[in-house]
Amino acid sequence: MSTPSLAGRRIVVSAGPTFEDLDPVRFLGNRSSGKTGFAIAAAAAARGARTVLVAGPVSLATPAGVERVDVRSAAQMHAAVMAALPADVYIGAAAVADFTPARVSDHKIKKRPGEDGLVLQLVRTADILADVAASARRPSLVVGFAAETGDVEANARGKLERKRLDLVCANRVGLAGSGFESDDNALLVIGDGLRRELGPASKVELADALLDLVAERLG
Ligand code: C5P
Repeated sequence: MSTPSLAGRRIVVSAGPTFEDLDPVRFLGNRSSGKTGFAIAAAAAARGARTVLVAGPVSLATPAGVERVDVRSAAQMHAAVMAALPADVYIGAAAVADFTPARVSDHKIKKRPGEDGLVLQLVRTADILADVAASARRPSLVVGFAAETGDVEANARGKLERKRLDLVCANRVGLAGSGFESDDNALLVIGDGLRRELGPASKVELADALLDLVAERLG
């Protein structure tokens, strides 16, 4: 079977972690490598889509034919994704911080004699995926990821409905050989009338299989 083309389509992909600064030298981050989002962007461009990749702080090469926008924080990623719309497809593969420090200290936070702890106040970040799905410029297809340690399918279905997504790709984190930092993964893709297990396979193969579903759904 030939690879379904995405020529003429515009696809926005987010990838990688976000870093939320605490002070000039420290931040809150996560273990996302960005490999999944970069593989999706590479596969989309290879199929002829005009592809924008909004990348958190990762050290990965820009895939051929992809327009890359580098960001650091969840707020910056939110702004860059919104600025990249309109698009036919948005795929939110980034591991976006759910909380960010209420204040960024302009000097390095010091430990003081006698202080045996530090309380950080965090505030919620805006949900990029939900905001894209609720936007007046909503892409035809909004695809999210759900990294879950338990109740994978129920949690993923909850996200599909709550965030008004078209597809959600659930991955089981914590399984040997799958998830964060790895080159391989297994995905359960859920949508209206769709339940498809992809892999275990390399993130490159999974990206291609996911884009087959995206192309099919775009019609
Ligand atoms: O709710 P949860 O964070 O588990 O959902 C994961 C999905 O939501 C991912 O696709 C992620 O990119 C997206 N997300 C987002 N903005 C946030 C938090 C998560 O776009 N602030």
